[in-house]
Amino acid sequence: MCGIIGRVGDGNALEPLLTGLENLEYRGYDSAGIAVQNGAGIDVQKRSGKVDELRESIGDTVLEGEVGIGHTRWSTHGPPTDENAHPHTDETKDVAVVHNGIIENYAELKSELSDYGHTFTSDTDTEVIPHLIQFYLDEGMDNEAAFRRAIDELEGSYAVTAMLSGEHVLYAARQGSPLVVGIEDGEYFLASDVPAFLEYTDSVVYLEDGDVVIVDDDGVEYTDLEGNPVTREPETVEWDPEQAGKGEYDHFMLKEIYEQPTALAQALEGRIDPENGRIALENFEPGTFADISSVQFVACGTSYHAALYGSLALKQAGVQSTALLANEYSVSAPPIGDDTLVVAVTQSGETADTLNAMRHAKAEGASTVTVTNVVGSTAAREADEALFIRAGPEIGVAATKTFSSQAVMLTLLGQRIAADLQGEVPANLESLLPELEAMPDSLEALLEQSDAEAIAERYENSQSYFFIGRGLGFPVALEGALKFKEITYEHAEGFASGELKHGPLALVTPDTPVFAVFNGVEDEKTLKNAEEAQTRGAPVVAVCPDGHRAVDIADAHLAIPETEPDLAGLLANVQLQLVSYYAADLLDRPIDKPRNLAKSVTVE
Ligand code: F6R
Repeated sequence: MCGIIGRVGDGNALEPLLTGLENLEYRGYDSAGIAVQNGAGIDVQKRSGKVDELRESIGDTVLEGEVGIGHTRWSTHGPPTDENAHPHTDETKDVAVVHNGIIENYAELKSELSDYGHTFTSDTDTEVIPHLIQFYLDEGMDNEAAFRRAIDELEGSYAVTAMLSGEHVLYAARQGSPLVVGIEDGEYFLASDVPAFLEYTDSVVYLEDGDVVIVDDDGVEYTDLEGNPVTREPETVEWDPEQAGKGEYDHFMLKEIYEQPTALAQALEGRIDPENGRIALENFEPGTFADISSVQFVACGTSYHAALYGSLALKQAGVQSTALLANEYSVSAPPIGDDTLVVAVTQSGETADTLNAMRHAKAEGASTVTVTNVVGSTAAREADEALFIRAGPEIGVAATKTFSSQAVMLTLLGQRIAADLQGEVPANLESLLPELEAMPDSLEALLEQSDAEAIAERYENSQSYFFIGRGLGFPVALEGALKFKEITYEHAEGFASGELKHGPLALVTPDTPVFAVFNGVEDEKTLKNAEEAQTRGAPVVAVCPDGHRAVDIADAHLAIPETEPDLAGLLANVQLQLVSYYAADLLDRPIDKPRNLAKSVTVE
C-alpha cells in the first residue's frame, strides 16, 4: 500500500528512483511521482497512472539531482489525480515529502495551517506534512528540528521521507508503516520494502516504530524522535534481484505459480527430521504448546483462507481451533486468555488489520506466533515467535505461492501443536510426512501438464463462476473464487459444497460453471452436490485425480496427483490459480496489478 523510495549518493538519482518505483508498484499504482534536487532547488514530476507513464512523461526532460524521493500511490484520501500524487510540497517548494499510511489528525492540522495562511492544492492527508515542516522553518528552526517537530505533531500511521531544498540529506520517520534502509558503498536508500533497491544492495536495516533517520553522503544516523541515538544493525537479505524479476514469464503471477515447487521445498527444508520422522520447527521445541487450551488463527483475504485451512486441519487433529477474519477480530473474538495461542497469518507481515488483531490478542494475554514471508516485518518483530514461509518475494498482487507455503507451514505447525497437546504424535503423521516431502514433485508434475488454459477458454464469457469444496476443500473453494474475481473482474463465489442447495443453487444456470474440489473426504457428498448443479444445466469441472469417479460424471476435468486428503486441496488450488490466470489473460486484464487493489494493505 503505497511505495516509498529515497536515494542519496553520487550521480543522478533519477534511474534508481524510477527503478525503485517500478519494483514497488505492487504496493499501489494509482499515481506516481518523484522529486530530485542537486543542492539548488527541488524539481517534482508526478502524475496519475502507472510508473511507466511517469517515466514516459519525464522523457528527455533534464531531471538531475543526486538526492531524490519517489512514491507510487494507492489512494486513501482523494482520488488518483495528478494533484493528489506524491511527492507533496509546501507552497515555496522548499520541502518535498512522500508518505505511506494515514494521518488521522490531518483535518485539524490543515485547518490550523490554513488559519496561518497556508494554501493546499490536494485532497491528501500527506500535504499537511511539508506545510508543517515549512511552518516550523518559518518559526526559525533548522531543517532537522523542523522535521522532528512536524513528525511529533502527526497522529496515525506513517512512513515519511522528506527532502529540504539546498542540502544533500533525506529525513525519514516510521510509525506503524514499514520503512527500510538500504546501504551500499557511498549510496543509501530508504524504501517501504526491500525489492525497491535489490538491484543496488542486499544490505538492509529494518527501522522500528518511533525511529527517525537522517541520511546524507556520509551515512545514516539512527535516532528516536527526540534525537537520542538508537542502534540498528544491517542484515543481508537473501532475495536476489532476478528472483524479484519476471524472467521469461509474461506476468509475475504466472512466474509465482510456477515457483511453487521451489517455494514448498524451501518451506519444508530442515523442518522434517528424517531420523525419527518428526516435524522439527526451529523455534518450537517439543512441549512448547503443552499449556495451550485453544488456538485462534487471524488473517485477511488469501491468508485467511490459508488460516482456515490450518484451523480445519488442526480441528481434525482434535485441537480446539478457530480461524477469524482479522478485521472482525476486535468485535467478535472468542474469549482470549493466557492459555490461548493466536497465530497471525500474513504474507507481508504488514497488514494493519492482522497486526491490530495480534496486538489485541497480546494485550489480552495470549501467546502469539506469526506465519509470514517477510523477515524484519512488523508482524515478525511484534509476535512472540515468527515462522517464516521462505517463499521468496511475491510481487503479483494476487497471492499464489505464499498461500501454498502458508498452508504447508500451518500443517507443520498444527502437527507440532497437536503432538504437544495430546502427548503423542498425531495418527496421520506417518502417512502425511512422505506426501508432504513429495509435494514439490507433485506440484511439478501438475504444472507440467495442466489443462487449465483449455478450461479457461472453454468457459470464457460465462455469467458467473462457482467453486465448491468440503472440509479442507472449502477454503480452497473460497480461495479459488477470490483469485478468480480479483484478477478477471468476473463474478465468482466459493461455497461449502453442502451449502449450494441452501440458496446459491438459485443462481445456477447453464452459464455458471461449477468447479468442484475433491480431496478424498466425503467425496460422494460433494459429487452429489455437483450433480445437483449439473441437473440445473451448470457445467461441472471436477478437480481431482485421474480415475476418480467424478471424472466420469463431470463435464470437464482438472487433474491433480494422488496424495493425502490433508494436501489434495493445495494441489487443486494450483489448478484453480491457473484457471484464473488464463481467464484473466483472455480478458486482457492487468493481471499483476488488478484495479483498486494493493499488495500490502497497511490501513484498517
Ligand atoms: C489476495 C491477496 C489478499 C491478501 C490480504 C492479506 O490475492 O493477496 O487477499 O491475502 O490482503 O495480506 P497479507 O497476507 O500480506 O497479510
